[in-house]
Order: sequence, then structure tokens, then C-alpha cells
Amino acid sequence: MKIYKENDIAIGKVTGIQNYGAFVSLDNGQTGLIHISEISSRFVKNIEDYVKIGETIRVKVLGFEEKNNYLKLSLKAVNDRERQQIKNPLSFNKPKRVKIRHDDKDFEILRNHLDGWINESLEENNMIKTDFTHIIDKVDMQNYAEKVKEINKKINEKTGLGNDFLGWTTWPEDYNKEEVERMIKCAEYVRNNFDILVVCGIGGSYLGARAAIDALKGLYSDDKLKIIYLGQTFSPTYIAQVMKYLEGKKFAINVISKSGTTTETSIAFRLVRELLIKQVGEEASKKAIFATTDKARGALKELCNIEGYETFILPDDIGGRYSVLTAVGLFPIACAGVDIKEMLKGAKDSMIKYNNPDLATNECYQYAVIRDYFYHHNKSVELFVTYEPSLTQIGEWLKQLFGESEGKEKKGLFPGSVTFSTDLHSLGQFIQDGSPILFETIIKVNKPFIDIEVPHDDANLDGLNYLEGKKLSFVNEQAMQGTLKAHEEDGHVPNIIISVDKMDAYSLGGLFYFFMRACAMSAYLLEINPFNQPGVEIYKKNMFHLLGKKGY
Ligand code: PA5
Repeated sequence: MKIYKENDIAIGKVTGIQNYGAFVSLDNGQTGLIHISEISSRFVKNIEDYVKIGETIRVKVLGFEEKNNYLKLSLKAVNDRERQQIKNPLSFNKPKRVKIRHDDKDFEILRNHLDGWINESLEENNMIKTDFTHIIDKVDMQNYAEKVKEINKKINEKTGLGNDFLGWTTWPEDYNKEEVERMIKCAEYVRNNFDILVVCGIGGSYLGARAAIDALKGLYSDDKLKIIYLGQTFSPTYIAQVMKYLEGKKFAINVISKSGTTTETSIAFRLVRELLIKQVGEEASKKAIFATTDKARGALKELCNIEGYETFILPDDIGGRYSVLTAVGLFPIACAGVDIKEMLKGAKDSMIKYNNPDLATNECYQYAVIRDYFYHHNKSVELFVTYEPSLTQIGEWLKQLFGESEGKEKKGLFPGSVTFSTDLHSLGQFIQDGSPILFETIIKVNKPFIDIEVPHDDANLDGLNYLEGKKLSFVNEQAMQGTLKAHEEDGHVPNIIISVDKMDAYSLGGLFYFFMRACAMSAYLLEINPFNQPGVEIYKKNMFHLLGKKGY
């Protein structure tokens, strides 16, 4: 962890304002105070005219105050242009000031709160950070504050539209502890006894697991257990190739379907189960099949009862696209060797943080409000951006989450996703210069799992020696900063940045919850039921009719 020292420029969040100065939590967990005399070179009558609680600011470190154990910071020492760039574009009414006498008591307050603030910022170090300083427009948040508060109450009390499906909101606390222990044991069994796990599901019954496994293990993991996906397509080529690949190999199956009747999943499961039985026999196959489905209903549940497969439950009050933190996502994720309890812990911390009704301090709802603002200000596409190929599937998960939750009644932002810099060489032109219909939401991971340096080359025919010794994380970061500037300043494309320090089970659990909560708030702002998907059924009806299914 970087420790800031004298003359460093640091980034931090304003956590408190008193009449003698502003407290700041720096991005490395250190805490500091900007004395009123260091706020501006002009006369400062009211500190809140310069900084707001929750605002991200850049400050200069003047020194360390040993007695009170905090950094002395200066805002005025940071030049105006820099400050301009990170100004807060979210406008709220001024919060009421608490009058405190300006004497030694002030430092007592600092002493009393310092530990809490430090803990808070340390925790936040590995939590989600939002940066709304590149959204170009100024959003009047005050307009939304009351509405957000009302909707939050409905979410918490489970009384909004589609309230039968709000189980996910408290799941990180309510989840079945015994089932999680059982999942961990079964996952260990799978890891010790098989070479491949075939995850068989579609939509909400597969995207979350795939997103998490790619994000946490990478695309070319050296894990002994390989995870492959089936049941998400009718493609005969894909299914036949997977089956061929599985021939003669030791594989287990996790079939996932809430309804137990989804056609893609059912066909693939029928085929892969038949292959398994052929390879290991009826009895052994029963120990290699794990099912995740409804607790009582559906064809898959019936089959589990007959065959005695190990079964995990998708609760009634959680829909597919909100189910990644249930056995739907957690069992395959555990099989991949991920600590699922850490993931639930991250989700729980997110839950505690983001069920807060106060828009001024709830960044998850600020994100939802900014989306709503753009929807009503001529933007029709939200483009999720990552700079890591292993996060591409998170884009797929987000597309389903937002697309199926919001895209109804002729409303909603169209969710797209790109992986940069790869897609800068294909869609970059459109984003920069095409129809001005989109804004970008960057999902940023500050530290890569592994870093690698550009090597020296004597001939230097490629002209790359100017980058010799530079880390690729540095190159990737400069690509991101350059793109952000190009899109924001030249292309006038608003950008939101949602970042975590590193990609691990804890932060991913937190991110999943953050987006689900933001999505529910966004859909409710549009007065839409976030939890149904009436539009998905129409293609199925037509397909069943064409396939000659009875009753269609
Ligand atoms: O989010 C959803 O509801 C859908 O994507 C479903 O998860 C998907 O259709 C799979 O359904 P099931 O789990 O019933 O097989």
C-alpha cells in the first residue's frame, strides 16, 4: 500500500466538514485534514462552497500531524485545471452545517472518529469506487432524492412491482448456510474426482457463473478442473464438438434450470447425461450429476427425486438474472476453486452500504439516477466497457441483467458491451464519431493478477524500445486514460467509471450486488417491473408451434 508523504498529490473523498476544515479519506486508507486556510487562496466564508461531503478531490500533502495522527492536506496547492477536471458534477442542496466550537474539542472529535474513518477507508480500498467526473452534464440529484428514498423503502420492504422476486435483496444475509457448506464439500469432491465440469444452463442459469469463473480464474487457467458450458445453444456443431471433447474424459455435470423445462438446457442435458451413462454406467453417473433447480416443481426436480442426484435450490423469490449469489452461480464457482463465502461477504458489505436511502451518499443509486438522467436526455445505449478479456462475460451478465429488467413497455436503455482495447479497433470509430446515442460505463480493475514487462530488443525494428521495461498494466492504463479523454473531450461521450482495486471473490460479490441493486432502482425509476420478462416468451411460443409441441 502506498503511504503518502510530504509534497505528494493524493486522491481522496471528503468525509466530514467542520467550520475549521474538511476531513478527507485518501484512496490508500490514510486520513487527513484540509485546514480552512488551505482550502482556497481566496477568502473562504463557507467550506461547502468549495468541497462537498462525498466529493472526490485531489489534494497536496503538506506534512504529517503526529499528535493527532493525520496528514495535513492542501486543496489550494492543487492547480485549478486539475481541480476542474475532478469537480463533482452531481448537484445536491447544501447539507446543513453542524456548528462546533473551534477549540481543542475539534481535535477530540478527530481523535474519536479517526479509527472508524480509517477502518472505513481501508475496507473501502477493496470495495467499489465510482467516478462520475466524466459524465459531462451536470445532474440535478436533488430532483431525484425523494423518489429514490421512496423506491428504496419499497425495495427494502419488498412492496414494489414484482415484489415476489425481491429475495435477492437480503440474500447475502439470509442465504442457507447449510447449503453453502454442502456446496463447498461437493465442489471439493468434484475437484478431486473429475477433470471437467460441464455447466449446463442458459441465461440467468449460467451467465453469472461464467462471468465469475472467467473474471476470477482467467481465460487460460491452469486449474486441473476445466469448466465448460453447454445448454445455452441449439447449435448442433457446438454441442457435437463439446460431446466429442468429453469422450473418454472424466467429467461431472451441473445442470441448472429453475423451471426444469428450458429447451436448450433440457436437450443438452439429455445428450450429455446419455454420454456420461455410456461412459461410466448408470450408478456412477448418479454421483457425477449435480442439479440446481426449484425446491419442489419442474421436470428436473422430478428427475432428481427419481435418480437421487445431489440437488441445490434456487429459491422461489429469486429470478434467474438475480441468482448469481445462490447455488445457481455459487456451486460452479466453488467448483472452480473460488472462496464463495468471501463472495457472499463482499455482497453482504455491498448490501449494507447500498440499501441506504440517502442519494447524496449512496453511489449505487447515484449511478442508477445518472442512467435515468441519460435515458431522458437523448441517450439510448449504455455501453459497458472493460479493459480485461477475462471480464468480457461480466458484460454478458450485465446485458441480461439490465436488458431483461428494463427493456419493456417500449422503455429502457439498450445495454451493450465492449472489451477494449480489442474493440477500439472495431467499434472505436462509432463510439468516438458515430450517432451520439450512447454513454459508457467502464468497469475498471486497478491491479491485474499478473503483470508483464515490455522486453528490450537490440534491433528495435518495431520501434518499441521506448516502452522497454514498462509494465503492460501501465500501457493498458494509458490506453484507458487516452480513450477516456478522446471519448469525453472530443467525442462528447459521457463516461462513468466503476472500479475495484483488484478482482477477487470479495470485490466481485460486491460488484454483483451493486449492479443488481442499481438495476432494480433504475427499473423502478422507469416505473417498470424489474423482475418479469414477458417478451422472452413470444419467441418460445412460435418456436414450439413450429416444432410441433403439443398445445402450441
Ligand atoms: O433471467 C431469466 O429468468 C432467464 O434468463 C432464465 O434464467 C433462463 O431462461 C433459464 O431459465 P431456467 O432456469 O428456468 O432454465
